[in-house]
Amino acid sequence: MTAPHGTDRPREGTDRPGKSTGEGAGRLSAHALQEAAHRHLWLHFTRMSSYAGTDVPVIVRGSGQYVYDQNGKRYLDGLSGLFVSQIGHGRREVAEAAARQGTELAYFPLWSYAHPRAIELAERLAGLAPGDLNRVFFTTSGSEAVESAWKLAKQYFKTIGQPGRYKVLSRDIAYHGTSMGALAITGLPGIKEPFEPLPPGGVRVPNTNFYRAPGFVADDLEAFGRWAADEIERAILREGPESVAAVFLEPVQNSGGCFPPPPGYFARVRQICDTYGVILVSDEVICAFGRLGYYFGSERYGYQPDIITFAKGVTSGYSPLGGMLVSDRLMEPFSQGSATFLHGVTFAGHPVSAAVALANLDVFEKDDLLGNVRSHEAAFRATLEKLAGLPIVGDVRGDGYFYGIELVKDKATRETFSDDESERLLRGFLSQALFDAGLVCRADDRGDPVIQLAPPLTCTQEQFDEMEQILRSVLTQAWSKI
Ligand SMILES: Cc1ncc(COP(=O)(O)O)c(C=O)c1O
Repeated sequence: MTAPHGTDRPREGTDRPGKSTGEGAGRLSAHALQEAAHRHLWLHFTRMSSYAGTDVPVIVRGSGQYVYDQNGKRYLDGLSGLFVSQIGHGRREVAEAAARQGTELAYFPLWSYAHPRAIELAERLAGLAPGDLNRVFFTTSGSEAVESAWKLAKQYFKTIGQPGRYKVLSRDIAYHGTSMGALAITGLPGIKEPFEPLPPGGVRVPNTNFYRAPGFVADDLEAFGRWAADEIERAILREGPESVAAVFLEPVQNSGGCFPPPPGYFARVRQICDTYGVILVSDEVICAFGRLGYYFGSERYGYQPDIITFAKGVTSGYSPLGGMLVSDRLMEPFSQGSATFLHGVTFAGHPVSAAVALANLDVFEKDDLLGNVRSHEAAFRATLEKLAGLPIVGDVRGDGYFYGIELVKDKATRETFSDDESERLLRGFLSQALFDAGLVCRADDRGDPVIQLAPPLTCTQEQFDEMEQILRSVLTQAWSKI
């Protein structure tokens, strides 16, 4: 099994006893931090044994598009942490909004009560969201947002007299989170297997990886898109429409390395959902808040979801927050009589996080971040496409500031690496080498091996060139090792 976030990179020992960890690092020295990390900290999706005898990478501060480790070394944050830091690091006005809110009202729940920042943020998000998505249900994370959307779909159908609808369709190797319900929607067998049996009802449909399209549609992007969408209809008919509650799709699927939708794909999916009365959930935990040059990915591709799930970029990571935006139609049965959506979490819509989200959106407006992505995305693509000349690069794909670079053993045949080769290439070399060269990105093999890039939305040509140069050098070395 592989680590979805590609974080298990062994490192050379660099700790010096007693050395200060530098500005912002807290009270422990670099050496003490390493000792405590080795003894007490459990990293997510990480082979902890890979750090036995080597340093855990410790990032101590960030500024703009860059982060710094405890030795003062600078890294270009080519993944926005984990698809999170849209506005970049170290924005004082956002941190100050958190401090102000903490002083005014640090906590109050959204169970029966409201607080001003949650109301203001809900109104602002409803104003930005497409169509009739007017109602915001807050969570603290993306997984909780996905769980909430599935629970809402189930309870909605029970409330309107269609109690048999509970199944969810999602795409092969798509990642929708790790809590049990979200994991049942996630399409990565390797990270599901240890936790089975999962809640029943998860059904897989094909993703939109055109580079690996089946032969009969391999030369025609639109026909491929039609086929992939029609597979959703076939799955609904196979399962029985009266049993299907929702389809969960990302605007651009992240896992597997950025699969944008073929032209016409979402229009056909919308039609299918309408025909069979199935709820269309656009999982925008990554794609919302500027990643694709729009506040919401569904806007970019011109489709109207019934629910949008979001997290990550809504606060640019200055405080955790997630949620779902829900259409008036889905809310309607819950606005009458004793009807109640029987779901909630303590920290959802936390006042500090809501204040941070509002300040984050202010930065989006003040710095015209959507404009920055739209005006630079062609240059980003062109810069990354220079790498397509390397023998190891099979495909460069994505949109906006969201790209995957698929690595292959043979460009002509598109032959991919064996599990062993992939292990040696990604884990044994690439992840470490890219980090050592000063680039935070992700070398991932949940599908075929890919390098993933999702830099802060403030990046311009200078950072694109830096990414390209580091990738060119490290991928050239990688090829010589195969
Ligand atoms: C599309 C998508 N959905 C859901 C999640 C889960 O979000 P979280 O890690 O905040 O629970 C992620 C996380 O990367 C994601 O990419």
